[in-house]
Amino acid sequence: MQIMNNIFQLAEACLTSPDLTVKLDLTQQARKLLENRTLDFSESSPPLPIHHVHFPQQLRWVEPKDLRQRKLSSLEGRVALLHAVAHIEFNAIVLHWDGVYRFRGLPQAYYRDWLTVAIEEMTHFCLLRHRLNELGAEYGDLPVHNGLWQIAEDTAGDILARMALVPRFMEARGLDVTPAMIDKLAQVGDKKSAGILKTILADEVGHVAKGSYWFQTLCRMKDQNPEVLYFQLIENHLGGKVRRPINQKLRSRAGFSNEELRRLMAMSSIL
Ligand SMILES: [Fe+2]
Ligand SMILES: [Fe+2]
Repeated sequence: MQIMNNIFQLAEACLTSPDLTVKLDLTQQARKLLENRTLDFSESSPPLPIHHVHFPQQLRWVEPKDLRQRKLSSLEGRVALLHAVAHIEFNAIVLHWDGVYRFRGLPQAYYRDWLTVAIEEMTHFCLLRHRLNELGAEYGDLPVHNGLWQIAEDTAGDILARMALVPRFMEARGLDVTPAMIDKLAQVGDKKSAGILKTILADEVGHVAKGSYWFQTLCRMKDQNPEVLYFQLIENHLGGKVRRPINQKLRSRAGFSNEELRRLMAMSSIL
């Protein structure tokens, strides 16, 4: 593989490759460069349009409604849950690399933060993939849905929408639903999988917190009120649909204001 040390070239190579191993290897390469402080942040060519981003060839895509729900008490059910979460984590690697690649002219700290998050998502994905392998399965064995990538495409031209909807909506949703998943896995005796989700949940609070920080910082730079714009963006892109549960404690730790939490609770439906 070609050795690159520029963050945007690495991002482009990672995003446009249809090969799962290449994507992971390039993310690992970026991790080493970041740790050694030899990563180059200079910008040369502008980003390619988002349709140049590829997912691994082996994935079979279906509509979210066509994914079967299985009981967690069975091995099949646990594999389905872990496969679904592995897919979320894989999407997250690609989403955060895309956030690095697509939005230019920002402080270097922005790129460092989101590359660090992409690297953590790779760790999450690898933990889950390893667990799937222990249970006799592999990522790509089950069909996957493209609901998460749809949000990336919808927000490709607007960094404020990207920050609001990726870390502060999708990843924040993870804070809401993961504690119950951990409890269910522990109840059926799968402590190992529960432990992996606990590790992931602790990191995800940090991802949402970075989303809050950059959303608020960039709003200030663009003379926007973050508390007003956040709800406008949810309305424009998602029709204002907010589901319960809302994990107020973890969201508060991740930078949601009391006013934002109050509004989210008021507009959420029990689904
Ligand atoms: Fe993650
Ligand atoms: Fe994340």
